[in-house]
Amino acid sequence: MLVGKRILLIIGGGIAAYKALDLIRRLKERGATVTPVLTRSAEEFVTPLSVGALAGAKAYRHLFDLTDEAEMGHIELSRAADLLVVAPATADLMAKMAGGHADDLASTLLLATDKRVLLAPSMNVRMWQHPATQRNIKTLQGDGLLFAGPNEGDMACGEYGPGRMAEPMEIVAAVEAALAGGPMKGRHVIVTSGPTHEPIDPVRFIANRSSGAQGTALAVALRDLGARVSFITGPASVPPPSGVTVVRVETADEMRSAVEASLPADAAVFAAAVADWRVANASLSKMKKDGSGKAPILEFAENPDILARVSGMKAGRPELVVGFAAETDDVVAHATAKRVRKGCDWIVANDVRPATGIMGGAENAVTLITAVGAETWPRLPKEEVARRLATRIANALSGA
Ligand code: C5P
Repeated sequence: MLVGKRILLIIGGGIAAYKALDLIRRLKERGATVTPVLTRSAEEFVTPLSVGALAGAKAYRHLFDLTDEAEMGHIELSRAADLLVVAPATADLMAKMAGGHADDLASTLLLATDKRVLLAPSMNVRMWQHPATQRNIKTLQGDGLLFAGPNEGDMACGEYGPGRMAEPMEIVAAVEAALAGGPMKGRHVIVTSGPTHEPIDPVRFIANRSSGAQGTALAVALRDLGARVSFITGPASVPPPSGVTVVRVETADEMRSAVEASLPADAAVFAAAVADWRVANASLSKMKKDGSGKAPILEFAENPDILARVSGMKAGRPELVVGFAAETDDVVAHATAKRVRKGCDWIVANDVRPATGIMGGAENAVTLITAVGAETWPRLPKEEVARRLATRIANALSGA
């Protein structure tokens, strides 16, 4: 529920603006107060009259006249809310935000606010995939903005791919998560997830079978307890959750620097299946058969152990550091030794022999290893493992 929560909803100029009308209704149904703002181009898609009528409040427009300023100054308007939501967040609006522009009411409010901002991007697939947009998204993620979507699917322009605005109820879930007052409120947690890809040459890489399902479920569970989650993911096959800060990486080294850039944190959970080795003699151009029948020899170098590095930090170490241990034999013995060797607080151990179907599957059977011993949980859906673990993390941080 969102009773008493104040949402400043900025509607950008895209075809998905029609979904913003439904979003207003859904937010209001849950007890939120919605103050709408339309950009100039938003008015080409929806009218201030319909937006204002649904919100039951004045719809502020790109033209911020002196009457408005007398009613409520733009600084006050940007700060009177509990959360700013931009839906649809167009490529242009995100570019402005990434560049710090303030040339209309929407961009000025976004620059002037001291509150969290949730973006629901919406654009054509090519615009979404354009390096400029991807660069802007990285910048905005680095600035701590939250994202809901976009989804993949059919688009109004007739193309298919990522760029569809998240559905109103998905945005509502992300709003609720952003405003959640759970036991992890005010806490920052880093979660790594997915595999890493270590290049052999520009087209080939070494990977593993991790889907990212357990890490994603954990990020969702921590988010739902009110934590601010930095979700650092390798190329996973499951999409990252909304309502968390997503940082996409490819290699172990990129993951290490993304983790370091996300510190400080109250807790860090390393669920990623990081490659232990990278190819030291990776080729800058595509390797080719030379006809001699001689196979290339790959040389390996050890990757940074992110878990061990963070666990061993002298200053600024997260209060709780949790590692995962995927083992194929003597699970508890190996994982117990690993906890000590890596210097982390807990290890979540699981048996990833192919017969278990755990790696890439929907369920997980884990043993939680702490300083006081090993606790084996029954086989459960990964979401349930995540909820239990998130609750344990919340209890540990609160000293319970
Ligand atoms: O040593 P092993 O790979 O089995 O350890 C697994 C744990 O260590 C996982 O939590 C994984 O995310 C983390 N790890 C890491 N950096 C590496 C290798 C593993 O953070 N280079």
